[in-house]
Amino acid sequence: MFITLEGPEGSGKTSHIPYLVEYLREKGYTVFPTREPGGTSISEQIRDILHDLKNAEMHPRTETLLYQAARAQIVEQVIKPRLAVGEIVISDRYYDSTIAYQGYGHQQDLNQVRALVKYATDGLTPDLTILLDLDVEVGLKRKTQNELEWNRMDAYTVEFHQRVRRGYLEMVKQESQRWVVINSDQKWDEVQAELKKVIITGLTKS
Ligand code: TMP
Repeated sequence: MFITLEGPEGSGKTSHIPYLVEYLREKGYTVFPTREPGGTSISEQIRDILHDLKNAEMHPRTETLLYQAARAQIVEQVIKPRLAVGEIVISDRYYDSTIAYQGYGHQQDLNQVRALVKYATDGLTPDLTILLDLDVEVGLKRKTQNELEWNRMDAYTVEFHQRVRRGYLEMVKQESQRWVVINSDQKWDEVQAELKKVIITGLTKS
């Protein structure tokens, strides 16, 4: 089963994943966590280019293509082989981030972006995608206050990040059978408990 976590900046995905992995392993599942962009040596190198604050002149099309290059590598090198042997793959972001950020955020043609994403993933779609939803300004503030990694993407305008969030909510409407939305503006433990519940429900259905 392929599970992805999505959300605007500061929504807390990254802090939740290790606990979810531990929980599932205790229950006897074989779980492989990964993240995007990254998760392979090549993809991590591309991540550094994408997130380096020095690269402020990067064009949205360059950005879009680099995310797809990083993705094609992790899909082939990690995700497909793990799924093929029956493991659960949990990814901190996947192609919905491209639709949200490069599509809705940069206001590029959504059909073109979707076609690129399909090429990069070879059509591999998650079985379950969880949106940790949060007000954009609250999320960006969390990132600055907690001294989390502040990267080139965070530095885009608040309006950009608002379009990203609206994009996510639009995607949830369009493909509601794949998505579950969790309000991330609650206590960490409450979010963690909801995540566990949603994932166990997904696993028992699959
Ligand atoms: P994060 O690891 O802190 O979530 O940072 C990843 C950043 O990259 C975040 O700002 C979202 C952005 N991103 C895209 O814009 N498009 C993508 O396809 C992916 C995977 C991430």
